Amino acid sequence: MGKIHEVVKWPEPVLAKVGAPVTVFDAKLKTLVDEMFESMYAAQGIGLAAPQIAISQRLCVIDVSFKKNPDEKIVLINPEIIERKGRQVEEEGCLSLPEIREKVTRAEWVKARAQNVHGEWIEVEGDELLARAIQHEVDHLDGILFIDRLSRLKRDLVMRKMKKMIKNGEW
Ligand code: NI
Repeated sequence: MGKIHEVVKWPEPVLAKVGAPVTVFDAKLKTLVDEMFESMYAAQGIGLAAPQIAISQRLCVIDVSFKKNPDEKIVLINPEIIERKGRQVEEEGCLSLPEIREKVTRAEWVKARAQNVHGEWIEVEGDELLARAIQHEVDHLDGILFIDRLSRLKRDLVMRKMKKMIKNGEW
């Protein structure tokens, strides 16, 4: 088993940075991807983006089946959402924002173009939870957290709650 990376939490500056494109597709990248899956499972998550382990690069991993179906393990390197359809409003969480859950509006279906670990371009499409996960993780690569998608009022309330938790040593 590979290294388990610690997931960084808000307001770590790396979470607000736009990640750099991945340009080298070597064994080291493959190892990093494996470690990202292990780190995501260890943190009980269904998606993890590299900036969340303090690596400011454009890659993320997703497994909405949470280990139940190996076919549902998705690696997106340098992804871009190229099509969106519909609208869904569901509660969302994030490993970098523990205990915070809020309803976020997302597209119901998306298609993304990305590279795999070999550097080959692939297309991935999904609806419902998978669509949500793809949009959430691609946002991370642009320095966007789900709280940035909330209304100003909701976002301020969440920020106040997090600051209070930090102050009380609960974060
Ligand atoms: Ni997240």
